[in-house]
Amino acid sequence: MMRGRRLRTTPMLRELVRETRMSAEALVLPVFIKEGQDIKEEIPSLPGQYHCSPDRIGEEIERALQCGVSKFLLFGLPEHKDEVGCGAYDDDGVVQQGLRAIRRQFGDRVYLITDICMCEYTSHGHCGILSGQTVDNDQTLPYLARIAVSHARAGADMVAPSDMMDGRVEAIRRALDEAGFGHLPILSYAVKYASSFYGPFRDAAGSAPSFGDRKSYQMDCHNRREAIKEALADVKEGADLLMVKPALAYLDVIQAVKQHTHLPLAAYSVSGEYAMTKAAAAAGLIDEYGVMCESAVAVFRAGADILITYYARELAGAIQRGD
Ligand code: PBG
Ligand code: ZN
Repeated sequence: MMRGRRLRTTPMLRELVRETRMSAEALVLPVFIKEGQDIKEEIPSLPGQYHCSPDRIGEEIERALQCGVSKFLLFGLPEHKDEVGCGAYDDDGVVQQGLRAIRRQFGDRVYLITDICMCEYTSHGHCGILSGQTVDNDQTLPYLARIAVSHARAGADMVAPSDMMDGRVEAIRRALDEAGFGHLPILSYAVKYASSFYGPFRDAAGSAPSFGDRKSYQMDCHNRREAIKEALADVKEGADLLMVKPALAYLDVIQAVKQHTHLPLAAYSVSGEYAMTKAAAAAGLIDEYGVMCESAVAVFRAGADILITYYARELAGAIQRGD
């Protein structure tokens, strides 16, 4: 008889034969920087996450460093929005201020990735420049390139375009190279689905579209082969790392992209995944710690090399404890 239970008898044996091992080094924590001064407010849609102004974002970074998390994905909430999202490529914009403040305080103890998109900065909340009621792909590309260069100048270590315009990786690569940032890697949100799991983020970032939805640029959740097509296109355009987003409802996609590409692969466990876990735990329906660990293991087991998660701090602790 095959006795599977023989390898499950003690904690040490189970630990020895684990197929998936997580590492705190592979975790990235998203942070929200809000324009202004002396702001630190808990985000109602994301319990445990904060809006911080550039002068106080260091408190959140420090709290993460204490837990062993040193990589961050920066999002900005500007004071003013307009039709073309000027605030996104303003050298004194909120993310740029945040980058400089964090770097001043922590130097190279932190690794700073910036989200490149327009939706937090446009009055209409779409991820690009409008032409009538539609997002104009090619008109948006130079704006994205400008944002990336501006972030690079302010000290970003890596840029992560999340807009889903075609050709943006190539446009950003060229602009970075021309501006003297040939060494700066691009993490492409290559496989980003139009997802209802982004709801809490859009509340947190004030980035919900004022009309329509994002389905004409983000992917249709029914498609998996299209994920490979998108990933390969971004490889060709010069992406250095790829991302699949969301994570938990797209484990098959993570596995498929991993099989068909050779770049480091990140998965983004998005706001809705976090908020659902928090809400179910608050209602006494699940064990938050267990669900957090199990969900993270699933994403790595599917093939992700990097996990972007609002639970980065708590997970780093769990990993240290061997859970
Ligand atoms: C901006 C962006 C979004 C997320 C990351 N970058 C929102 C969106 O596309 O609507 C979602 C992150 C999350 O839900 O945690 N384009
Ligand atoms: Zn966007």
